[in-house]
Order: sequence, then structure tokens, then C-alpha cells
Amino acid sequence: MLPALKLLKKSGKSENTILFASKPEAIPQSQLTPEEASYAKKQLAAKGKETVLIPRLGKILLLCKPEKGKVTAVKLEKWRKKGESILALLNEHKIGEISIIDEGDHAELALAFAEGVLLGNYQFLKYRKDAEEKESPLTLVNIVSKKLKKESIDQLSILAEAVYRCRTLVNEPLSALNAEGLSAEFEAMGQVAGIKVEVFNKQRIEALRMGGLLAVNRGSIDPPTFTVMEYKPEKPVNKKPLVLVGKGVVYDTGGLSLKPSSSMDTMKCDMAGSAAAAGAIYAIAKAGLPVHVVALMPATDNRPDGNAYVPGDVIHMMDETTVEVLNTDAEGRLILADALTYAKRYDPMLVIDLATLTGAAHAAIGKYGMVAVQSGARKHMEKLKETGLQVHERIAEFPFWDEYGELLKSEVADLKNIGGPYAGAITAGKFLHHFTDYPWIHLDIAGPAFLDKKDGYRSSGGTAVGVRLLFEFARNLGKKS
Ligand code: BES
Ligand code: MN
Ligand code: ZN
Repeated sequence: MLPALKLLKKSGKSENTILFASKPEAIPQSQLTPEEASYAKKQLAAKGKETVLIPRLGKILLLCKPEKGKVTAVKLEKWRKKGESILALLNEHKIGEISIIDEGDHAELALAFAEGVLLGNYQFLKYRKDAEEKESPLTLVNIVSKKLKKESIDQLSILAEAVYRCRTLVNEPLSALNAEGLSAEFEAMGQVAGIKVEVFNKQRIEALRMGGLLAVNRGSIDPPTFTVMEYKPEKPVNKKPLVLVGKGVVYDTGGLSLKPSSSMDTMKCDMAGSAAAAGAIYAIAKAGLPVHVVALMPATDNRPDGNAYVPGDVIHMMDETTVEVLNTDAEGRLILADALTYAKRYDPMLVIDLATLTGAAHAAIGKYGMVAVQSGARKHMEKLKETGLQVHERIAEFPFWDEYGELLKSEVADLKNIGGPYAGAITAGKFLHHFTDYPWIHLDIAGPAFLDKKDGYRSSGGTAVGVRLLFEFARNLGKKS
């Protein structure tokens, strides 16, 4: 469960405390006895030690004395991780409430610590008999700080909630969430956050001639959906909208170009891009950021049924481009292409798409970051990369030379849907690029979207990568007016 987050200006009688201090010796005796202070001093004197745990009759006090100097991205991540790392202790001692107190000048690090606690407390227990016993006991996190504003606390709380929602959408199996189910979840999120949501059904998708989405859907027994979410605040800083596009393949078997079963196992995660786009617009709207945002999510499963599209087929995309399908497992680009075409009607300031698009992106940089390419969006890309470092959802920009595009030439159609054996993440980007005529950034999240085992505050399963990145990007956009 997501613990509530509360800002207090003065510390009350806190039982379990995380105390940030620059000078432990200056802490009043009501909080730290002289014995404890001298123990803390000795412990902290050890080289590189920034925390000391002081156990007290069934309670805990963690004293934190962060090293001096500027708050860097690396430090923020370090303190997020430290936040997550106390959860095991809280669990063991069934502690339901903690107070994070900033006695020094460490508001940002205390907030990062809280972020790690919140994000790390996520669990997906819905299908377990032992859920009750496994459930984390933590329900309330107090932050005591004179520096922090209520707005930052509220935004962190909203963002963590969006991350939880996104992770759960990714963790739900196909049996619980097909394309229509996913769209219904997006509608529900829109309702909560005050976002206009429209879900196009198959008929509407046919009328729009979204040939890519329809082709991928042909092997499915469930109809496709196309969800449009729009958040338009009263006085947005952007005249033209920021458009997010998310891949919503609710399950990817590969279609007739069937995946080997080991690589199919985790393919419920193939809608992580759409869940991240929805999570981001949800948080942006709930926080009331002054940014006009649209999110577009094409959704279907990719399966080899009797009527499935086959290698060799030529399909007609929404923008009338013809595509020779040479691998039905390169389906993400087909459904995204139609969404990118649809995005043109917004005359967007910038389009950012998120997709678990290629194993090649995963192979190239692992789970440690996402692969990106861009067109006409150099400045935004630099901002996004910087934001990626700050929130630790890092971006590796790949080259995007013209030659990669030539690998997509087909004998029989305008394009084919696969490049060669090399540079798969880039040729996939080139395919998408064909359907854009606006500033555009493509984020391939195939590596970091889904983890087989937990990595600090990134839980196993869906990580919600992209949500924190896009929220922070929009927050920065909203600041300059
Ligand atoms: N959904 C997969 C990509 C993927 C791989 C996501 C690993 C998450 C983890 C995508 O649809 C796919 O199958 N891509 C193919 C493209 C190829 C056929 C050109 C791939 O990467 O093998
Ligand atoms: Mn595929
Ligand atoms: Zn896929």
C-alpha cells in the first residue's frame, strides 16, 4: 500500500525516526541522549559512514549525516536507495509510521529518502493467499522540515501513486487486462485526475483506417482499442500540446513469427509504454501542472490466430504508407506508427513516444536505462537527458544517421517492418520517424520496463520507468512561463 505522506513543521512525539543532521552533537537531548550522541559520533567517524542506526527498545532511530557539498543526481539516487533499504527493518519490526526529520540543511536529501521509502514499499500481492501476512506494515511517513513546501510533498505523493498504478497495470497478466480492460483502466484514471478520456472501439479504428493497429489485431480474439487522454489546464505554458504516445501491446507472442517461450514469459509487460504515458499524464493532471498534455495509446495483443497477419503481407497504414511485414514480431512499430500519424492533428510542440520496442535496446544497454533517438527536438532531448539523470531514469541517445533508414527499403512496398540484424533499436526508430512531421523523441524502454528481480526501490515486475521522467520534464516545462 502507498503510505500517506505528511509534512509537519515541528516534530511531535515521533517513535521511529530518521534524523538528518549536520552536527549530531547539536541535537537536543530530548531527541538524542548523551550516550547515544557519543555512540553516533564514533560510528560516523568511520570513513565514508553517513548513517548510524540507533536501536531503542523496539523502536528505531536512524541518524543521517550526509557528506557535505552540492546535491547531485548521484547523491539523490544514493539517498533514495537508503530510503528503500530501511523497509526491511520496518517490516521485521512491524513499524507502521516513521518520521523523517531534517534538523540540518538536507531537505532535498530527506525528500529523496522519502521517495525511496514510498517507491520501495510497492507490492503486487493480489493473487497471493499470503497477501495479508506479506503486506508491508508502513502506512504513514511524516516529513518534518522547515524548508520543504507542501507542494513538493503533495507532488511526491501524487507521483508515487502514479508509479504504483503504472506498475500494477504492467503486472496484471493478459487474463486480467486485455486491450479493452486496459482502456477501461485509463478511463478510470482519467476520472480520478480530471482528464478527458476517449476510447475508440474497433469500428472507430477501422473508420480512421489505422491499418497497422488492425493488422496486428487480426490474430486476436479481442478487439483493439485506441485511447486518447487530454489534460488542458486553464493557462498552459505551452501553446501547442505535449503529446505522449505509449505502446499498448497487452501481450506479445510474436504472432506467427512466434517467440521462443523463454522470451515470451514476460511479454505481459509489452504495454508498459502506454501505462507509463497514462501514469505520467495522470500525475501531471493531479498535480495541476500548467502544461497541456495529450496521451495516445493504441492497444491490442499480438497473437497467431487463424486470421493473423503473415510475413509477406502488405498493409496500408493510416497515413497511406504501405508496409511489407517481414516479421510479425515487429508489431509495436506498426501500432505506434498509426498513433504517431494521429498525433499530427494536434500540431504538437513535441511528441515523446515510449515503447518496449526492441530486444536490441535491452541487449545494448541492459536494464540501466532507455535508448533514445530524436528528430527536430535537440533542445528538448538535452533537457530530457538531464532530467533523466536527476530522477535516475537515464537516457542513452543513439546515433540516428540516414543510412539506418535505408535498411527499411522494401522491394514491394514503401517500407518493410524490419531492418537488418544490426542496430535494431535504431532501425525501429527510423521506422517510426517515417510517420512524424513534428519535433519528436522516441524512448525504447525494453530494458528497464520490467525486472525479473527487484533492484532497490524498483520492484520486480513493472518498474513504471518513464513516469517519473515525464512528470519531472513537464514540471520543468511548467516552471518557465
Ligand atoms: N516487445 C518486443 C520487444 C521486447 C523485447 C520488449 C524484450 C521487452 C523485452 C518487440 O515487439 C519485439 O518483439 N521486437 C523484436 C523486433 C524484431 C523482430 C525486429 C525484437 O526485438 O526481437
Ligand atoms: Mn514483438
Ligand atoms: Zn512487442
